[in-house]
Amino acid sequence: MSSKKKVVPVKKKAVIVKKKVVSKPVKKSPPKVVASPKKKEEHISEEKKKGVSPVYALVRGMRDILPKDEDKWLSIQHVGEDIARAYGYGYIETPIVENSNLFIRSVGKGTDIVDKEMYIFDDRDDTKVALRPEGTASICRAYINHGMHNQMQPIKLWYSGSMFRHERPQAGRYRQFHQFGFETFGVHDPVVDAELIAVGYNFYRDLGINVEVQMNSIGNLEDRQRYLVELTGYLRSRRGQLSEESKKRLLKNPLRVLDSKEPEDQAVLEDAPQILDWLSDESKSFFMKTLEYLDEMGIPYVLNSRLVRGLDYYTDTVFEFYIPESSEASQSALGAGGRYNLLVEQLGGVPTPACGFAIGIERVMMELERQDKKEMIERSSSRRLPVFFAQLGEQSRRRTLFLIEEIRRDGTIVHFNLAKTSLKAQMEIANKIGATHTVIIGQKEVQDGTAIIRDMESGIQEIVDQKKLSHELKKLNRNDVIRG
Ligand code: HAM
Repeated sequence: MSSKKKVVPVKKKAVIVKKKVVSKPVKKSPPKVVASPKKKEEHISEEKKKGVSPVYALVRGMRDILPKDEDKWLSIQHVGEDIARAYGYGYIETPIVENSNLFIRSVGKGTDIVDKEMYIFDDRDDTKVALRPEGTASICRAYINHGMHNQMQPIKLWYSGSMFRHERPQAGRYRQFHQFGFETFGVHDPVVDAELIAVGYNFYRDLGINVEVQMNSIGNLEDRQRYLVELTGYLRSRRGQLSEESKKRLLKNPLRVLDSKEPEDQAVLEDAPQILDWLSDESKSFFMKTLEYLDEMGIPYVLNSRLVRGLDYYTDTVFEFYIPESSEASQSALGAGGRYNLLVEQLGGVPTPACGFAIGIERVMMELERQDKKEMIERSSSRRLPVFFAQLGEQSRRRTLFLIEEIRRDGTIVHFNLAKTSLKAQMEIANKIGATHTVIIGQKEVQDGTAIIRDMESGIQEIVDQKKLSHELKKLNRNDVIRG
């Protein structure tokens, strides 16, 4: 009986499809993909003639993930999920297809992504749509669409998925690639930028990859406009020495000339005015504070005054993660991001400061392969329970940042939320994530060099020396594993 029932909708569907085809002969040619690959799918026509099914090759720039890649690929996913949870990011998934104007308005006309690389086409109802070339614009759209500004800020979101750019394929560069992204909305505070950089740094470190963080600030809109006048004047005065590509960029997007890797441009760029000299006092102090937080956390970074990023939406902090050694892998960033305080408003939302970054999964895979990591880092986090860190006040926040990094390095799973200031809100989070213990650091503890460890089950608190904190937590953590 049930099998009869199942047949009906299938038949109905088949009739509808038939009707459509018969009554509406297809007038239009199939959707036109503007950035269609140069090499079309190869099917072997000779074999077709012989009546043999054609063998299709992969579309250029695409790749399969095979079982041989499984360990590395899945480890990356797990580490990403663990880190997102540890730092309190909520998962969000947005569609691959979006209105193309969303990206044109956010990433910007004049950028390579919008001008040359987007997979953009007319949908069957003539809407212009694009396969997402990146995630940030979509996450901002979702933030606005779902009225997230009405919720308690910051809103911390992470995502994972395929992105599409019609670039020239090469090692670590594909036309469909994968990103993990992390975005924080609603707080204009350098601690947010530092936290995001720590998320990235720890993600790579947990996979056994040591990265170098390259940092710069491109200031606010006014700073940048003043700087652009200066830079454009300088580049024009040395136009004759620039590469052909940089000459084009000089007309369309002069900031991007700074990014050039062409050998003939290097001498010109060496003497170019530096954006840090054009920052307003506010932007300068924001940048300095971000760097101080990184110092507190023991995260190594280098300043790169030519780092400007290839997307238009950034303001103030910009950063990229690189492999410090001079290898092929060191040429391309393993991840990148920055602050984008104006984007939500530009897309029709209420003014909302924001900051984020994305990790390129294929680049991480490539680095793991290069390092020939036979054994992936044994991630035992799923067997161990987290410890939550609560902080009260600016001094305590700084101290906490420092301690957390030390304790994470010793293998304890640490969760915290630096953007929350009240103890009550922080204890609620500790309960929600199932922390076994909460470490509380208030003003008194900062002064005494102590910390309070609270057992979340019994409510018993003990005071320990900060120097012994890591050791104490490791001991408690072992007990929890044994208990579990
Ligand atoms: P992005 O620099 O364009 O930034 O990309 C981030 C990372 O994605 C790069 O550092 C690289 O690792 C990887 N990636 C980019 N293109 C390719 C490609 N063709 N093949 C393989 N990997 C690639 C963004 O996408 C921004 N949405 C990041 C962000 C988030 N900014 C703020 N929030």
